[in-house]
Amino acid sequence: MDKGTIRILMFPWLGYGHITPYLELAKKLTTRNFVICLCSTPANLSCIKQKISEKFAQTIQLVSLHLPTLPGLPPHLHTTNGLPLDLMPTLKVAFDMAEPEFANILSSIKPDLLIYDFLQPWAPLAASVQNIPAVEFITSSSTMTSFMFHYFKKPGIEFPFPNIYFREYESKLLNKLLACASDPQEKNRASEGVARSCKIVLIKGARKTEAKYIDYVTELVGKKFVPAGLLVQEPSLDNENSEIIEWLNKKEKKSTVFVSFGSEYFLSKQDTEEIAHGLELSNINFIWVVRFPKGVEHKLEETLPKGFLEIVRGRGLVIEGWAPQLKILGHENIGGFLSHCGWNSVLESMHFGVPIIALPMHLDQPINARFVEDIGVGVEVVRDSKGQLHRERLAEVIKQVVMEKSGESVREKADEIKVKISDKGDQEIDEIAAELVEVCNSGPSS
Ligand code: UDX
Repeated sequence: MDKGTIRILMFPWLGYGHITPYLELAKKLTTRNFVICLCSTPANLSCIKQKISEKFAQTIQLVSLHLPTLPGLPPHLHTTNGLPLDLMPTLKVAFDMAEPEFANILSSIKPDLLIYDFLQPWAPLAASVQNIPAVEFITSSSTMTSFMFHYFKKPGIEFPFPNIYFREYESKLLNKLLACASDPQEKNRASEGVARSCKIVLIKGARKTEAKYIDYVTELVGKKFVPAGLLVQEPSLDNENSEIIEWLNKKEKKSTVFVSFGSEYFLSKQDTEEIAHGLELSNINFIWVVRFPKGVEHKLEETLPKGFLEIVRGRGLVIEGWAPQLKILGHENIGGFLSHCGWNSVLESMHFGVPIIALPMHLDQPINARFVEDIGVGVEVVRDSKGQLHRERLAEVIKQVVMEKSGESVREKADEIKVKISDKGDQEIDEIAAELVEVCNSGPSS
């Protein structure tokens, strides 16, 4: 089959950190003459339409999937500025219930290939019924994915990479993960797509930094895992949020920390307090994005410690809700990123060569934070044995990473990795394209 004739139906999960890598991959594949259809909910598609460039919009077909109405699920849910994590279980049920409609979409579009998200493990089964081959695309890190699969396949045996682990105070998170690994239903759900019904797995990340995890998970699962690249969007050139950039323009080179905890998580009151005091103690410039759950009454001044905004006036900028993260990380005056280590944020920071002050919260973030430290592009803010964050420790790590002599090697490593992982020749996309052609040539998944 000639790759120019391959039509791919992409079916991402609704989370912001899932949709954006799918769009980036779609953009790259269209440059290699693949024809892409992207399937999502109507509300989400209309937001996507507004966000993508006119040129890209002309090359991609958008296909609507209607979710059932369920109690607690907002009718026009979209992920433009994040998706509340607590909706996840209901949303999973809604997606599962949409399987028959998805099967109809498959039979009307008749794609040559389906690329689906690991959170929709039934999608490749629907495709195989219609003789359509499927490729899974995992938007989490290879480190986390190999860690998960290790515990699925070898419960009770230590993970072979000793720098990747959960800390004592994260044992609740680890127990949750292990319970999930031993629950047959969850185990099937999480491994079904990979183990049975897809040909290969694409995974967001780069071989240059994650080779050992990619090889290990390939061995564990018995399917080829192909790194899909960093898939970081180009920062937009529009004038939106220009006041933030103007503020940052006035600071010195690499002098300012960007503080953001992703698109799903909301900080606890205690962490908010410690972070505010830590930023204050560090004496370093910062831009902090503070998010609040939709529909919850709040006042920024009351959330932050009394007088905080006054004390940090001039050197600290607090933004409510959402900030242009890529524009900010790409700015030469940013010298550190205080991050929860969501996988997209880690890769974006590495892409721009910004060293990371790692403050993981939950899910895969502790593992991503250990990875960041292991490759040397960041320093973790370790909590006390009870899991409490301390302002003094946070201030110390911020100063170390941004300006002190003790953080020089981290800053150098961030610069070095930035160069190492840049894909100037677009070699990655050629390799992915060749893999996808091969999958289509070998027929439907069994
Ligand atoms: C979720 C999980 O929380 C995380 O553990 C997992 O690794 C990926 O899925 P999320 O919380 O959204 O991720 O964080 P992250 O993966 O870092 O993605 C956030 C995305 O939103 C980034 O692309 C970032 O650039 C963007 N963002 C976030 C903004 O553009 N502005 C903001 O103010 C906040």
